[in-house]
Amino acid sequence: MEIIKGDGTNELLEAQSHIWNYTFNYITSMSLRCAVQLGIPDIIDNHDKPVTLSELVKALSIPQVKSAYVYRLMRVLVHSGFFTLGKIHEHEEYMLTPSSKLLTKNHATNIAPFLLMITDPVVATPFHFMTSLFQGSEVLPMEVAHGMTFWKYCNQHSEFNQLFNTAMASDTNFVMSVVVKEYKTMFEGFRSLVDVGGGIGTAAKAISKALPHLSCTVLDLPHVVSNMVGNGNIEYVSGDMFKYVPSADIVLLKWILHDWNDEECVKILQRCREAIPAKDKGGKVIIIDVVVDCNKGKFQATEAQLCFDILMMVSLTGKERTEKEWEKLFMQAGFTSYKITHGLGLRSIIEVFP
Ligand SMILES: C[S@@+](CC[C@H](N)C(=O)[O-])C[C@H]1O[C@@H](n2cnc3c(N)ncnc32)[C@H](O)[C@@H]1O
Repeated sequence: MEIIKGDGTNELLEAQSHIWNYTFNYITSMSLRCAVQLGIPDIIDNHDKPVTLSELVKALSIPQVKSAYVYRLMRVLVHSGFFTLGKIHEHEEYMLTPSSKLLTKNHATNIAPFLLMITDPVVATPFHFMTSLFQGSEVLPMEVAHGMTFWKYCNQHSEFNQLFNTAMASDTNFVMSVVVKEYKTMFEGFRSLVDVGGGIGTAAKAISKALPHLSCTVLDLPHVVSNMVGNGNIEYVSGDMFKYVPSADIVLLKWILHDWNDEECVKILQRCREAIPAKDKGGKVIIIDVVVDCNKGKFQATEAQLCFDILMMVSLTGKERTEKEWEKLFMQAGFTSYKITHGLGLRSIIEVFP
């Protein structure tokens, strides 16, 4: 039974708990990262029934004396909803939840690479320099921490470049599985598409599989696409989207504009508008990105969007935008109308018309 304390004591204790929760939040992230690095979701997934602690320790090939560590790691991750602990015949056994299923290699849209990239020291370290942003420094925390911009870092560090591209591909694989299942009609009736900043072509592959008549071009920086080999339907072009976007009926911008500030976005959008047919010929730009506030009332979703916004502020010049902010960009870049479809969870699809 909770004892009701007087004079605001309960409020004070709750306030402390709130602070502790957010103080320790990164420990949950790092625990989840550790579990994925150890392969725990895969071990449970590949076991044909729920896994006891000693089976888990055995499968991890670590000494049984370390089982207390595994128990404690699993306890926090059970608490945060990544695993469940059931009692079957006197044994406590671990099972996956829908969230940890999404972190298994067997899952068609495994998003573990995205988790590993975002929690990587390269991405996490700039947060220790976040205050510099507010103290007159024009240099981004990413640059204070690593001495160069994010894209230059990717260019010069092949291991991180690979981690980043794989992470992007895992997210794209996930989100495009929903796009082609639920919103395929947005791409129907067109002959060509260019995926600007399309990474290693994951979105183009998903679209091309669902709509084989659509010819796709993937535009990205040389260090991303120079080794990519196209096929009959997909072509890779290395270049700079600020200078030139190859012509196509549809331009796709998936997770591109949130990387850039308003001026930079207007320039990219102007290049996109030049690349598509005029309004009466049906050209359009399709943006897949966050629209802040689209998940009103869903606390977790909004918090994830706002954290993503801070990530953009610390690592790049970009930001997450509200509908009003998006609209302003479209009008400045010379587009006349747009339509937003909120159906991708944390992100939305925005069709923009010349
Ligand atoms: C956040 S990632 C998104 C990748 C892909 N659209 C996806 O969602 O999987 C941004 C992409 O933009 C590319 N990029 C950055 N600057 C670019 C430029 N100036 N021209 C073309 N691509 C660029 C990066 O290399 C990277 O692949």
